[in-house]
Amino acid sequence: MSVAVSESPVLVTGVTGFLGRAVTRRLLGSGRPVLALARARDGRDARTRVAAAVGREPDGRSLDVVEAGLDGDGAPRHPAASRRLAAVETVIHCAGDTSFFPADVAVFRAGHLAGPLALLRALAGMRLRRWAHVSTAYVAGQRSGTVREDEGDVGQTFHNVYERVKLEAETAMRAAGRTLGIDVRVLRPSIVVGAAPATTGGAPAHLFFDFVRLLAGLASARGSRDGDLRIAARPRAPFNIVPVDYVAAAIHVLAEAPGAAGGAFHLVAAAPPTQEQVLAMLLDRLGARGVRVVEAVDLAAPSALECRVARWLAPYREYLEQDIHFDASAARALLDRAGVPAPVLDARALGALVDVALARPASPVEVSCPAS
Ligand SMILES: NC(=O)c1ccc[n+]([C@@H]2O[C@H](COP(=O)([O-])OP(=O)(O)OC[C@H]3O[C@@H](n4cnc5c(N)ncnc54)[C@H](OP(=O)(O)O)[C@@H]3O)[C@@H](O)[C@H]2O)c1
Repeated sequence: MSVAVSESPVLVTGVTGFLGRAVTRRLLGSGRPVLALARARDGRDARTRVAAAVGREPDGRSLDVVEAGLDGDGAPRHPAASRRLAAVETVIHCAGDTSFFPADVAVFRAGHLAGPLALLRALAGMRLRRWAHVSTAYVAGQRSGTVREDEGDVGQTFHNVYERVKLEAETAMRAAGRTLGIDVRVLRPSIVVGAAPATTGGAPAHLFFDFVRLLAGLASARGSRDGDLRIAARPRAPFNIVPVDYVAAAIHVLAEAPGAAGGAFHLVAAAPPTQEQVLAMLLDRLGARGVRVVEAVDLAAPSALECRVARWLAPYREYLEQDIHFDASAARALLDRAGVPAPVLDARALGALVDVALARPASPVEVSCPAS
C-alpha cells in the first residue's frame, strides 16, 4: 500500500547505516523521492557513501544528498542545501550512534540531542510538518514486565548511556515539536536483525549472526561425550529480535500515517518466543544439540568454554537476563490497516536467518569463541 502524503522528498538521516539504508530503499521502491542527509567520512564524500549504501546513484530527483553531520548545530547552511531542504515535509531520523558506552559522552549527546534539535528547528521554519524519530524499545531501561507504547520516562534506571540518552532525545524532540507545532512521532524497534554480512553498522544483527555461526561451529566440533554447553540467560524470558524488513516497512507507514501523529510505537516481534524456544529452533535447523540456556544462578562450575561464551556475550548479558514484554497494540492497529503483517519469529523465520548467517562460513575465531 502507498502512504505517500505528497511528492515532496522525505528527508532521511542515517542513510549510510543499517536501518537508514533499509528505510531509504523502501521509500525509493515505493516511488517516493528521498533527500538523504549524510556526512563525508574516511575520504569519501556524502554522495559517494549514500550511493554505496543504497545501491543507486543519486540523480538529484528521486534520490538527492545533502552533506551534513548532526554533531552539534546539525543544520546545513549552504544555500543550495537550504533550497532542497525547503521542500521537506517529513523527516525520518534514523541517524544515531549505537555504542552502549560511548568513549566521548559529550559528542554522543550532541549527536543524539543538539544535532537533531537544530535540524528540527531549522526545518520547522520551512515546510516541515512531521518528524519520525527512530528511538529504541530499550528506552524502557531496566524495567521488567509489560511496557506500553505510551510510556516513556517512568523513573526507570538504565543499563547504559545509550538507553538514557535515547530517552532524553525522545523527550527533548517531543517538547521541541510541541513548541514549534511539528508532529513528532517516536518509533521504537527492539533488536533489529537483517542481512548483516552485507551491511556496516547494525551491531546486534552482527552479534546474532555470529552466535548462529558459533552454534554451527560448536555443533560440528563437539563430540557426543561432551556435556551440554550452558549459556546463562533467562530461558523463559521473551527473545525479541525483529527483522529489518518489518522495521523498514513499519517506519515507512508510521512516519506519515495520519493516525500515528504524536504517537509512540513499539516495532517488535509479535508474541516473541522464549530464549529456550529460540535456541531449540536454531539447533533444530542446524541439526545440532548439546547447548542449553540456563538461569545464571544455575550455572555452577562453568567450563572454560562456557566462560568464554559468557565473556563473548557480555555486552548483551543484561538484555539476555531481562524479562520484558513490549506491548505493540498501537503500532499493530495502524499496521494491520496498512496491510503490514506482524513479524512472527517461528522456525521458518529463524531458519531463514540461519541461512543468511551461514552464507558466510564461521571463522576460526567464532568457532573457538574469543577470550575477551
Ligand atoms: N540496529 C538495531 O538493532 C537498532 C534497534 C533499535 C534502535 N535502533 C536505532 O536505529 C538507529 C540506527 O541504528 P543502526 O543500527 O542503523 O546504526 P548504524 O548502522 O550504526 O548506522 C548509524 C547511522 O547514523 C549515522 N550517524 C551516527 N552519528 C551521526 C552524526 N553525529 N551525524 C550524522 N550521522 C550520524 C551514521 O552515519 P556514518 O555512516 O556517517 O557514521 C549511520 O548512517 C539508531 O538511532 C539506533 O539507536 C537500532
